[in-house]
Amino acid sequence: MAPILPPQAQNIRTRPGTPHDVEASKDIKLFQPSTIRSVTIPNRIVVAPMCMYSCEDGFLNDFHLAHYFSFAFKGAGLIIIEATAVEPQGRISPEDSGLWSDDHIAPLKRVVDMIKSQGSVPGIQIAHAGRKASMGSPFAGYRIVPEEANGWSKDVRSPSELPFDEKHCQPHALTKEEIQDLVQKFADTAVRADKAGIEVLEIHSAHGYLLHNFLSGNSNKRNDEYGGSLENRMRFPLEVAKAVRAVWPEHKPLWLRFSSSDFKESDHFAHDPEGWDIYQATEYGKKLKEIGVDVIDCSSGGNISGARYPTAPHFQVPFAETIRREVDIPTGAVGLITEPIDAEKVLQEGKADYILLAREFLRDSGWALRAARELKVPVKWPNQYERADNERWVGKNGK
Ligand SMILES: Cc1cc2nc3c(=O)[nH]c(=O)nc-3n(C[C@H](O)[C@H](O)[C@H](O)COP(=O)(O)O)c2cc1C
Repeated sequence: MAPILPPQAQNIRTRPGTPHDVEASKDIKLFQPSTIRSVTIPNRIVVAPMCMYSCEDGFLNDFHLAHYFSFAFKGAGLIIIEATAVEPQGRISPEDSGLWSDDHIAPLKRVVDMIKSQGSVPGIQIAHAGRKASMGSPFAGYRIVPEEANGWSKDVRSPSELPFDEKHCQPHALTKEEIQDLVQKFADTAVRADKAGIEVLEIHSAHGYLLHNFLSGNSNKRNDEYGGSLENRMRFPLEVAKAVRAVWPEHKPLWLRFSSSDFKESDHFAHDPEGWDIYQATEYGKKLKEIGVDVIDCSSGGNISGARYPTAPHFQVPFAETIRREVDIPTGAVGLITEPIDAEKVLQEGKADYILLAREFLRDSGWALRAARELKVPVKWPNQYERADNERWVGKNGK
């Protein structure tokens, strides 16, 4: 594998400092570092996991190198690489990222090394799409991909034989042997992520994918020990978390993203005891904490067709706040957070510990630099871009 940067570029910073420097920003929480276990994230700004649907057979490529570079170069603290499947059938689309074989480690390491070279922390989300697998990417038309088009529509896996809706594949119910096999696959994938140099691992337990399918009675109709009561519905996701924690190095943090509610009702705190609600999510959070999950990234929804989301800026922050308080665990807030001052306020008010942004980072990969400027935090811009740092350059030399 060729080095990711030519030798002369390995040491491109001729003056000390990077956008990740935080010394002068003690009052602004968004730019304060945090250390969990032995990993220090230089600020609280996180690139949320985002599928790019641009892989072949699960392999990351030059597109991903350039894509993730753009955030690392411009000061994001933690970059969580997109949902990465633990087995081929665990991809949403045939173009999803994967880490189900050792062959996937080197291309991932290339991206990881590049992220580290810029001072950011590399994370990854490991995932299984469950009953929402074998679909086309959004830009290929989000519809069922059949076998003849490289799909696996007849081998879609779920707790029960209940499709998401008529536009998704008919899943088959996993046997207990298949469930155990998947627990092992999550653990094996975590080992590979470690070998690639990933520092923060996030388990995907949200958005109507496999772990969430088990958690929610809206998708889990089993009548064995993996279905029915909350304890039974949590069994498989907790087995996954336990198996992953057992192999994920003690000194590295483990994050988990869950949907805090299925939003059967358009109300954050509505009860859905037979399905999935914030009260059950809180119990799940407590168990995850006991297992050694360090941070819960609080998202919502994705598990029932026709859910009614109270979509508005910051609409998921109440979940991050509730989980942080009730479980007493650091949380990530995500969802329609776009303005630095608002992000700072979420942290100042103690509602979350990290701010994750997805679409806003696609609009502006330099959001961290924008935040520094707007919050008047004197971070060091990358040398090559320094003349765009208004504070320092506008007015100088008249150029
Ligand atoms: C293109 C795209 C791909 C996404 N892929 C993932 C993913 O791989 N895993 C995940 O948990 N969420 C995924 N999401 C959801 C985001 O991580 C985020 O939770 C959501 O977009 C809300 O945040 P935002 O308002 O800042 O965009 C994706 C979102 C977008 C826009």
